[in-house]
Amino acid sequence: MDNDEEAMILEAVRDLVREKVAPRAAEIDATGEFPWDIQKLFAQNDLLGVPFPAEYGGLGGTFQTYVKVVEEVAKACASSALIIAVQELGALPILIGGSDEQKRRFIPKLASGEWVAAYALTEAGSGSDAAGSMRMRARRDGDDYILDGTKIWITQGSIADIVTVFAVTDPEKGANGISAFVVEKGTPGFAVGKLEKKMGIRGSPTVELVFTDCRVPAANMIGPEGDGFKIAMKVLDKSRPGIAAQALGIATGALEYATDYLKGRVAFGKPLSQQQGLQFMLADMKTEVEAARLLLYEAARKCDEGAADITTWSAIAKLKCGDVAMSVTVDAVQLLGGFGYSTEYPVERMMRDAKITQIYEGTQQIQRIVIARSMVGRGK
Ligand code: CAA
Repeated sequence: MDNDEEAMILEAVRDLVREKVAPRAAEIDATGEFPWDIQKLFAQNDLLGVPFPAEYGGLGGTFQTYVKVVEEVAKACASSALIIAVQELGALPILIGGSDEQKRRFIPKLASGEWVAAYALTEAGSGSDAAGSMRMRARRDGDDYILDGTKIWITQGSIADIVTVFAVTDPEKGANGISAFVVEKGTPGFAVGKLEKKMGIRGSPTVELVFTDCRVPAANMIGPEGDGFKIAMKVLDKSRPGIAAQALGIATGALEYATDYLKGRVAFGKPLSQQQGLQFMLADMKTEVEAARLLLYEAARKCDEGAADITTWSAIAKLKCGDVAMSVTVDAVQLLGGFGYSTEYPVERMMRDAKITQIYEGTQQIQRIVIARSMVGRGK
């Protein structure tokens, strides 16, 4: 995809966001319901297909284009942006570790948006310690594997047509005893549990998934037995920039809103935007947002190139963009004063939505561990 094609896609995304997504954002947050209208809008306009290869029905966009699409949507609605990012997250295990047959079976329907995807790694006792504390089991039985265990915090788990699930196949082997599976909706023994009530991204369903004697064909195992954790980590290398893009979009949206507000509100005889103390805040926010943007675009460029250090750069981008989203949205609320605290204005929603970007797809502390390990090794 060249620069002209990217510019065309981004212009179309901006139009869709202005006309259809932005007007829905407050309502999506207030009702906490998954916005199927927005999912269908994205599907019809091929936005879900941007990061998928053309040979499997996608647009074959670059990673750089993909993160900019997520960013544009997140400027107005973080829950809607997550629809695009999690479609990619759920598909990545298949794209990274799957066979050609699996790619042909699953990817076209994800690229078109006919199916929704989810990614199930986290468990009650294993969030940050994804490998060491995993309890979910998968045991071979003839041509099948039988899955038992519970996953939590699974974004889109309740609406997904396929979920990529990680389970221990050999408890003696630690991280190298974990395998990945595609579980299809309707598989007996696969049930949706508790729906979380959340501070932000309220339009995105986050659920528990329960697997009880859940029989999955061995043909649905992604890669060889024992490769699951490495696949999970390679996925996060490519999905963390998507969350960084969501965070950057939230920060940008809040900054733009606060800037316009300050220009329009008069106090002490002049617009607030002409108060030097507030200008200093705006300048700091802008500087942080642009620094975060450069880091994210560099991480995305490295993903496109298949650079050797994408693990580090994805973590750097997610760390910076998540922290900037939080600090900028807190300041945007401050700049709007009492109005910033009101649900009639979007910045309090943006502040609530920003928080999760410091937590999911690896907490900011995990990103620091990943970055530091690339500098000084693991110490063992
Ligand atoms: N690429 C390839 N292989 C990798 C890898 C990577 N990026 N990272 C680790 N590995 C390999 C290691 O080389 C090692 O292989 P060997 O045994 O052959 O040497 C193996 O995987 C185990 O690695 P570590 O020993 O480094 O593993 P660890 O237990 O110390 O954990 C960790 C590493 C970085 C802390 C990891 O557990 C981690 O990222 N935790 C956070 C989990 C996370 O981000 N969860 C997010 C859930 S998804 C989500 O949030 C989505 C959503 O809701 C939208």
